[in-house]
Amino acid sequence: MAKVALVTGGTRGIGRAISERLKADGFAVAANFAGNEEAARQCEADLGIKCYKFDVASFESTQEGLKQIESELGPVDVVVNNAGITRDAPFHKMTLEQWNEVISVDLTSAFNVTRQVWDGMRERNWGRIINISSINGQKGQFGQANYSAAKAGLIGFTKALAQEGAKKGITVNVVAPGYIDTDMVRAVPEKVLESIIGTIPVGRLGKAEEIASMCSYLSKDEAAFITGATMTVNGAQYIAG
Ligand code: CAA
Repeated sequence: MAKVALVTGGTRGIGRAISERLKADGFAVAANFAGNEEAARQCEADLGIKCYKFDVASFESTQEGLKQIESELGPVDVVVNNAGITRDAPFHKMTLEQWNEVISVDLTSAFNVTRQVWDGMRERNWGRIINISSINGQKGQFGQANYSAAKAGLIGFTKALAQEGAKKGITVNVVAPGYIDTDMVRAVPEKVLESIIGTIPVGRLGKAEEIASMCSYLSKDEAAFITGATMTVNGAQYIAG
């Protein structure tokens, strides 16, 4: 039977490309989404996968969602914690709400989702957790104190959990995209985005498929010795040590 992969925020942008790639790799894919029904229906129609609506920022809602996925598809073997939002503002204008929203959706969600599948992965001695961080969690970004904190938090979460999963055949890794051609990046003011693209040595935005192919590799058996790692995919915009 096909292994089951869950991609949070898996119906649009980078998440959709990951869902598509993992389906092509032979996984039974569950794509989670929070609100955009139209994108979810489109994703189901285009990719032939099931989409599940639940809020990964809520532990209870995530627990319900995972119960449904596991009863319909089976135990989850691969999780891609991809769901994320931005609420950019310079810190002197940032509200507590903007801070809390981003920390909940971009960081606490990784706890909420991973906690549901961890015991089963330990029992089966196999699992793959892939946390989608960001270049801005590695280097910090003006206007993103909330997002940079959440995305850096995912890197610490990964390093700790990799050590716990190691003896149980579970790998835990980060993929840290640079600026990828998605709605999220296109929402950056045009002038600001132009200047950002100017700092990417490869000379262009990344493609969602380029993130998906890294996730594909990390989800395979042959990637068993890669764990606790941060895989940077950013066109040399930031070269982390
Ligand atoms: N470095 C230094 N100064 C900067 C700056 C930067 N990168 N960006 C803006 N500023 C300065 C401006 O020059 C301006 O200075 P002055 O007031 O002296 O003229 C000031 O900040 C602008 O202040 P405002 O009060 O007008 O700021 P604002 O409320 O209009 O918002 C902002 C500013 C929200 C930070 C806006 O510049 C912005 O959206 N920047 C992009 C942030 C970004 O890169 N987000 C990434 C989104 S995509 C993503 O997150 C995906 C991923 O993982 C890569």
